Amino acid sequence: MRSEISLIASGQTKFGEWWEKSLRNLMAEAVDAALDNAPCSALDIDFVVVANMLGEAVNGQAQLGALASSLLPHRPPAIRVEAACASGSVALHTACALLESGKAETILVLGAEKMTDASTEEIAAALMGAADSEADATAGLTFPGLFGLVAKRYMHEYGLTRSQLNLVSARHHHNAIQNPFAQFRAEMTPEQIGRSSIIADPLRLLDCSPVSDGAAACILSTKHRSPLRIAASQLTTDTLSIADRPTITSFGATKDAVSRTLEEAGIELQDIAHLELHDCFSIAALLALEDLGFAEPGSGIRWYEQEEAMTVNGSGGLKACGHPVAATGVKQIIDISKQLTASGKRYGMTHNFGGAGATCCIHLLEHDA
Ligand code: COA
Repeated sequence: MRSEISLIASGQTKFGEWWEKSLRNLMAEAVDAALDNAPCSALDIDFVVVANMLGEAVNGQAQLGALASSLLPHRPPAIRVEAACASGSVALHTACALLESGKAETILVLGAEKMTDASTEEIAAALMGAADSEADATAGLTFPGLFGLVAKRYMHEYGLTRSQLNLVSARHHHNAIQNPFAQFRAEMTPEQIGRSSIIADPLRLLDCSPVSDGAAACILSTKHRSPLRIAASQLTTDTLSIADRPTITSFGATKDAVSRTLEEAGIELQDIAHLELHDCFSIAALLALEDLGFAEPGSGIRWYEQEEAMTVNGSGGLKACGHPVAATGVKQIIDISKQLTASGKRYGMTHNFGGAGATCCIHLLEHDA
């Protein structure tokens, strides 16, 4: 980074089904939680970047920038960013660019989504806006369908078995038991996962991240300091349609983003102690581990077959924490900040993608160990 950007405060709502709370209520709760532990006053915030995908489609609400800004007493300038499931981390990336440019010194980054007011069918249709509407959507695909294809192809190429795949969600559900903000906090055995209902063959209910409501906020600053700094922030893209890619068992945007991240921070993969990766579906966790370079192609499952030094989705990930789309990228950086503070380790990484890997955004957080 060209400037020293500190993560000075953060807060989030519990993710889940919040029928009695509106999108605005969720945003306000996360902002209040972040301000509660901030070393500065709300008046120090000189810009707001808010991430949201489905405001118009599900909540009848656009102008999220003005809405987020009006949660602060002085209504600072604000913008909204949208990059499907990567919206939250693209908001962080945008905030880093604004801070590096000197345009702002202290930025509130907010990710929020209110999904459960719509039916599962309506959500599936709205989420398909994150895919290519002229290619993937017209083929009758939904996101579970897209990742079902990925899983089927991966199993064909590498021989991954259904009982191996069960281990991914089992681990993430186990990790979420310790996370008071997670949507699901119960143990799920590999057998329960393998017996859950088929959603898009071979993916079952317990391979899928759920439909969720939630918001997460953090405050980044070049003016106020904390022991947690953004060491790298990288954003990459690939073709929108998976049909235009040479392979569907690897996402090129993740590979590009991780190599740029390591170069920006001047570190090696082995330096990373905690990883929060984008497990919108169990199979996506294996692709991520391989594309990030933590495993050879086809061998990502080893991270779930044995204990490794680096923690993967210690929060429970999207699978067990819930996935209120645009809140996820912001919540991941909060989880990494907590994990680094607790372990005293130096580096943690977040990996967040939008669509079927068309947008990828990676952040590296550095802790004064
Ligand atoms: N994981 C664990 N439990 C889940 C769940 C999930 N993904 N989704 C639903 N449940 C639970 C519900 O809490 C409910 O439990 P209860 O009966 O104890 O209340 C039960 O399963 C049935 O829930 P329901 O809402 O009827 O499920 P559904 O069939 O309508 O939706 C999915 C299930 C998998 C289709 C839905 O969660 C989904 O579409 N997920 C993917 C979202 C997505 O594509 N995100 C973008 C990723 S790129």
